Amino acid sequence: MEKIGFIQGTFDMFHIGHLNLIRNAKNVCDYLIVGINTDELVEKYKQKTPVVPLKERMEIVSAIKYVDKVVVTKDRDKVKLHEKYKFNYLIMGDDWKNTEFYDKVEKELNELGVKIIYFPYTKSTSSTKLQKTIDILLKEKED
Ligand code: CTP
Repeated sequence: MEKIGFIQGTFDMFHIGHLNLIRNAKNVCDYLIVGINTDELVEKYKQKTPVVPLKERMEIVSAIKYVDKVVVTKDRDKVKLHEKYKFNYLIMGDDWKNTEFYDKVEKELNELGVKIIYFPYTKSTSSTKLQKTIDILLKEKED
């Protein structure tokens, strides 16, 4: 039977960490769905607004050859998301491992027969790091 993988994230200022995760994810499933969080959802759990608009973040991720489907996600409730997308694996970077939020999600998903797969977080970059670099460069220009 075809195995469906699901990733959820912001994918702001698309970078190599995002690509590594998506590539690794497609290695363990047949059909990969990526949920792109709305600005409102990101504001709720990261207390910041993405730089790149949702439509563009979706367009970029859709163009990646490992991605079979891109959807908008307005909610972090994985049980609800599972009802909708029927995935076999929830896949993410291991920066989320052993967090209170995902320990709870893991228990709920296990009961539904869904496995959480963590891949190594790419330490060299992140949207936050990129934004900080831009801020520093802009500041230097001003001074
Ligand atoms: N991710 C990763 N390696 C990175 C950055 C992200 O493996 N360097 C993974 C995360 O663990 C998550 C997914 O990519 O499962 C989407 O992450 P996202 O929050 O969109 O990216 P970040 O760059 O981590 O964003 P921020 O700096 O705003 O937290």
